[in-house]
Amino acid sequence: MNVGIIGGGTMGSGIAQVAATSGCKVKLYDTNQDALDKAKAALEKILSRLIVKGRIDNDEKLRIQGNISYVDSLKDLADSNLTIEAIIENLEIKKKVFSELESYVSEDCIIASNTSSLSIASIAASLEKPERCIGIHFFNPAPLMKLVEVIPAIQTSQSVLDKSIETISNWKKVVAVAKDTPGFIVNRVARPFYGEALRIYEEGLADFATIDYSLKTIGGFRMGPFELMDFIGNDVNYTVTETVFTAFYFDPRYKPAFTQKRFSEAGYLGRKSGKGYYDYSEGAIKPEPTKDSELAEQIFNRVLVMLINEAADALFLNIASAEDIDNAMTKGVNYPKGLLAWADEKGIDWCVSKLDELYNEYHEDRYRCSPLLRKLNRENKTFFSEEVS
Ligand code: NAI
Repeated sequence: MNVGIIGGGTMGSGIAQVAATSGCKVKLYDTNQDALDKAKAALEKILSRLIVKGRIDNDEKLRIQGNISYVDSLKDLADSNLTIEAIIENLEIKKKVFSELESYVSEDCIIASNTSSLSIASIAASLEKPERCIGIHFFNPAPLMKLVEVIPAIQTSQSVLDKSIETISNWKKVVAVAKDTPGFIVNRVARPFYGEALRIYEEGLADFATIDYSLKTIGGFRMGPFELMDFIGNDVNYTVTETVFTAFYFDPRYKPAFTQKRFSEAGYLGRKSGKGYYDYSEGAIKPEPTKDSELAEQIFNRVLVMLINEAADALFLNIASAEDIDNAMTKGVNYPKGLLAWADEKGIDWCVSKLDELYNEYHEDRYRCSPLLRKLNRENKTFFSEEVS
């Protein structure tokens, strides 16, 4: 299969590696020669490291490298069966590239975008044959993260969806099919992990270290929310939240936090700037959390129930299937359990009463319980099995 990748930055170069490893012939295109040189050098380094780790041998390295060519003209992608675009997140620029690309490729070439925040319908609208357009959303780093969200637009044909799922599955990825709505699955359902943690901090209930400690020790999350925001970058994470909030017509559930905005404005971006919620300078001492198990339990339960509510509402609104929603969070952001399975484990009645408790305390729409949780509770059902035993 011939795969054309447009944009050789962080995501494009990772996707090229994934496709080439699976035996596809890949052409990686970028307008910036420097980006292509960097992508080539980065792949050399990654594959050499895999040899040292004993994961691949030199023949395999040469095979993967031999499958990728680096091109500086969009025309070179003419013989692609599938193209995946991973350029700058700008609708006008993407549309221009898509419409030019369509003039070169064959009738049945699938034209996909790796966009995180733009609607696939709006990108597809730039094509003469919008039914060939689809969202294929990888996670960073693409070669390591198992999940790929596949997002058909309202224009996308069933055969393009089927072929895309088949191809991505052949690349040994876990596919979650998502509706073309803001944040797709992961970037929507994960919002309370950050948002509720920030709110708990803003209310003065606990400091960053204690909130992180609660989510890690009781919840089993690999990183606490503040550690994770520092890892992602406060500027990047804030922008995703603000984009989702705006795209949802200012639903208070997604309201960004001033704390994060100020950290971002101050340049406290996290690891990459040496300072975020924590200090990453040489010799800095990490603050100790308050190890009060009752407080930790309270913090964990509040964040968890807000995540469960978001996952339940995504299912209620048919954003994806229950299996795909749970897979998305475990394979896309390494959650220790799927949120809907977690809801079953905690008890649907527990989820509803916890959310009602929060709503009664604050009287904010942010804490409204998903109608689906209420329905399951009323009917004594769970997400993954019919009856509560
Ligand atoms: P990046 O900035 O690392 O790379 C973008 C590349 O596109 C650059 O090398 C640039 O030279 C090239 N480019 C810009 N305009 C171009 C054009 N008109 N034609 C050809 N090449 C062009 O960006 P990154 O992070 O790889 O993101 C790319 C896309 O992937 C964006 O749509 C982003 O929303 C999405 N995405 C990013 C993720 C991340 O964690 N970085 C995760 C999932 C999706």
